[in-house]
Amino acid sequence: FEEGPLTGRRILVTSGPTHEPIDPVRYIANRSSGAQGTAIARALTALGAEVVFVTGPADAARPDRARIVEVETAQEMLEAVEGVMPVDAAVFAAAVADWRVDGASDSKIKKQAGALPTLGFKENPDILATVSQLKQGRPDLVVGFAAETDDVIAHATAKRDRKGCDWIVANDVSPETGIMGGSENAVTLISDEGAESWPRMGKDAVAEELAARIAKALAE
Ligand code: C5P
Repeated sequence: FEEGPLTGRRILVTSGPTHEPIDPVRYIANRSSGAQGTAIARALTALGAEVVFVTGPADAARPDRARIVEVETAQEMLEAVEGVMPVDAAVFAAAVADWRVDGASDSKIKKQAGALPTLGFKENPDILATVSQLKQGRPDLVVGFAAETDDVIAHATAKRDRKGCDWIVANDVSPETGIMGGSENAVTLISDEGAESWPRMGKDAVAEELAARIAKALAE
């Protein structure tokens, strides 16, 4: 590992989308590229951390020098995260599907003339909330993300309280911002000290700033 302010620290990063199967060949997904999570993993490694990177099927290249755990579904991601604990800090950048298909089919659903399949849904586990609310072995610092399209600070502050994490990195993903899938991000960091809006910058710069803040918080 690199020598740096995070040397000797073990940090979990979740990243990417999850895929929720409908049947063996079809799934429900989302547009997360995994770019911000990958950048965060790289920035933490550069400061000396031992990073465990739990990722769904993302397009982004995997961060080198991190331990990579590949998963597909939200349930698999939760199991992987539980298997990685304990860690000093955890950053939940994954866009985890809120729902999975209830009773996904083990065989390909056949097209039938005049008949449409109906899908029922079940709620997925909330990985960030689960880890934030651990009674034993909770990481010293738990960071969640909030992608919002309106009232960003109010919604993200409520989310921080509801989930029980220490920080929320909130961003405005309204289509006109071009942030989702783009290379830049404009974030507000919400902590118990309030809301701090950062200027719009590259996802790499956001990751470096966040990694520096994490190093500072763990040192305190
Ligand atoms: O509630 P919402 O999905 O907007 O919260 C976003 C934050 O919660 C992100 O940090 C995301 O990684 C995390 N999350 C999670 N497990 C879920 C849903 C969201 O870890 N099932």
